[in-house]
Amino acid sequence: MSELKGRVALVTGAARGIGAASAKALAAKGAKVLVTDVLDGSETAGAIDGAYFRHDVTSENDWIAAVAEAKNQFGGLDILVNNAGVFWMKPITETALEDFRRMQQINVEGVFLGMKHAIPAIAARAQQWDGGGAIVNISSVAGISGSPLVSAYCASKGAVRLMTKAAAMEVAALKVRINSVHPGIIDTTMGSQLVEDFAATGAMGGANETRTQLAARHPLGHFGRDIDVANMVAFLASDAAAFSTGAEFLVDGGLTAN
Ligand SMILES: NC(=O)c1ccc[n+]([C@@H]2O[C@H](COP(=O)([O-])OP(=O)(O)OC[C@H]3O[C@@H](n4cnc5c(N)ncnc54)[C@H](O)[C@@H]3O)[C@@H](O)[C@H]2O)c1
Repeated sequence: MSELKGRVALVTGAARGIGAASAKALAAKGAKVLVTDVLDGSETAGAIDGAYFRHDVTSENDWIAAVAEAKNQFGGLDILVNNAGVFWMKPITETALEDFRRMQQINVEGVFLGMKHAIPAIAARAQQWDGGGAIVNISSVAGISGSPLVSAYCASKGAVRLMTKAAAMEVAALKVRINSVHPGIIDTTMGSQLVEDFAATGAMGGANETRTQLAARHPLGHFGRDIDVANMVAFLASDAAAFSTGAEFLVDGGLTAN
């Protein structure tokens, strides 16, 4: 596949999970990929035409360095996937302000800083591609509808959803498209953590029963795979999505269809 041949992508939080799968899906379409994470992402990078760069998405200096690295290693930047994120559950009344802020720092400020520093680099090369440059922000079904104990996470993912739309309108004339992706529960480290956190509330029984009940909430009857989200990311990054911007794309097994 050579759909993304000549393109350079930067994927955050790509050491594992949805980020790693997205890096691989973009590379499979011919893109060169800068794999970034606070964890070691050299395994992901080694499996594709890519390189690993240590990058904390909450640091503006790290963002400046990461975009510079994409230019130095691969000659520019065409695609950004803002994927890095964290999840935890807690009642609002028991949530420490510093914990709430830390989640917004990673899940929201990380996306803001990514767009701020990547847009000029992406716009500089966007005219040469039919579908322009592309940014894909990973939100969640939690950015569409609420549920108990996840106010901090919903706040962060709802912010990503609307920041995506506002930014997309701002840069459409530069031929840079920005869309958000909203996964249901996906079988990753974060997905397992979510099951454990739900199980700890005791509302659905033990870990196995909790998993079964959470899976059943998705009309397709199971959790998603990282590749299910990665395929959507690769589509939105490609010229096949040339007329899509400021839009939200669900990969949730029907969870929010009701
Ligand atoms: N797994 C799910 O059920 C699910 C559902 C909806 C949305 N999402 C979203 O998808 C994205 C990826 O989730 P995942 O399931 O692959 O999670 P994961 O925990 O498996 O991977 C997340 C990655 O982000 C990295 N990361 C965390 N903080 C970072 C920081 N400050 N700077 C750089 N990297 C950082 C982690 O090191 C990790 O490699 C997240 O934004 C998450 O909120 C996941």
